[in-house]
Amino acid sequence: MSRTLIRGGLVITAADETYADVLIEDGRIAALAARDSAAAAGWTAETVIDATDRYVIPGGVDVHTHMEMPFGGTTASDTFETGTRAAAWGGTTTIVDFAIQGIGQSLRAGLDAWHAKADGRCAVDYGFHMIVSDVGEQVLKEMDILVEEGVTSFKMFMAYPGVFYSDDGKILQAMQRASGNGGLIMMHAENGIAIDVLVRQALAAGKTDPRYHGEVRHALLEAEATHRAIQLARVAGSPLYVVHVSAEQAVAELAAARDQGLPVFGETCPQYLFLSTDNLAEPGFEGAKYVCSTPLRPADHQAALWRGLRTDDLQVVSTDHCPFCFTGQKDMGAGDFSKIPNGLPGVENRMDLLHQAVLDGHLTRRRWIETACATPARMFGLYPRKGTIAPGADADVVVYDPHAEQVVSAQTHHMNVDYSAYEGRRLTGRVETVLSRGVPVVRDRAYVGQAGHGRYVPRGTCQYL
Ligand code: URP
Ligand code: ZN
Ligand code: ZN
Ligand code: ZN
Repeated sequence: MSRTLIRGGLVITAADETYADVLIEDGRIAALAARDSAAAAGWTAETVIDATDRYVIPGGVDVHTHMEMPFGGTTASDTFETGTRAAAWGGTTTIVDFAIQGIGQSLRAGLDAWHAKADGRCAVDYGFHMIVSDVGEQVLKEMDILVEEGVTSFKMFMAYPGVFYSDDGKILQAMQRASGNGGLIMMHAENGIAIDVLVRQALAAGKTDPRYHGEVRHALLEAEATHRAIQLARVAGSPLYVVHVSAEQAVAELAAARDQGLPVFGETCPQYLFLSTDNLAEPGFEGAKYVCSTPLRPADHQAALWRGLRTDDLQVVSTDHCPFCFTGQKDMGAGDFSKIPNGLPGVENRMDLLHQAVLDGHLTRRRWIETACATPARMFGLYPRKGTIAPGADADVVVYDPHAEQVVSAQTHHMNVDYSAYEGRRLTGRVETVLSRGVPVVRDRAYVGQAGHGRYVPRGTCQYL
């Protein structure tokens, strides 16, 4: 039996903050005891981690990443190996990535392809959602099988006609299926048909700079799609999880649905909380670094997102980590914003940015852990194995120094991408040590992890209903 003791820290979960010693046995949390009572209790351990003046928090659960995702004629620059290593550096110990069903393919073929990319390469644990891009009778049946196997959530797109887009009838059918099998439909809610018209009009008018990406992907077209997705889910009798919410009008749609008691959930991402259309309008082609969909919004949308996180109209903060290098990838869209590959890096930055949000008064410490660890785990059937520190849980634990100062930079980050969306930002708080199932992955700010340590985690169904 291997034992580790984390002594003297402030243990923070979604429910509690208590000074406690944490005993880990064979990769799981064995027990918690009052601070510095471990010796009196007779606990012994080969490894003792001193967490005095530190937080002891559950490893982050990032339920929205796209490692090595093919998109827009290129591939996201983090592999499962580099991306999960960067996740660990940033205190995230579980990712849920998206396997993709190609048009005309089975779900199985897509899932197998993603296992082939990830298996044996990850530094931390990982699961999969399935992107459903081609609904048919056989695919609907396959959804049942995937839920049984632990792929319990399905992303669909109201955007990207000709790529991932599904029309309302296909979406309704998938929702009906999910209502019967316990699956959770995750929606990319933007009216892609209308957006494509606005894209063509903008380009024809010579509006080719990155900032027009934000203008054509209008906030009202996010709100409209969010509203429509909610109504379709009501008709189907299924729950709904709206991904990467950025517009305050979309938050209002979610809040209205929740006020009616509907099982409708929302996720936002650090880029929408910390960045804005000011970044998209940076001079030259710099704005391309900030092209993602849904797009960054004017800064005055941020207040609604923070409020939504506090009032539980938004439940989860994930990253939508989908990195493309500025040189060689983002520049494919020089002279035509519609050819800039969509997506931002951030898997390494989420826990720290949200800690800064605690210091800035946007969230409480427990809400930080709730939105970044516990609720994503519950939403996607990983709780209480992931997302908390409690007896029986996997010992995915971060020792966090809430006083350390850092300056975010591409020079020092570990994501495989040549820029940082948060370059130069000063943050207080930093990950010091990370355990994944009791095994050190980062120790005192040094990487000691291994590709292949991370295991595939089959998931249960949504536990947030
Ligand atoms: O711009 C983004 N979000 N890229 C990743 C794909 C998606 O829609 O989540
Ligand atoms: Zn201190
Ligand atoms: Zn999306
Ligand atoms: Zn995404």
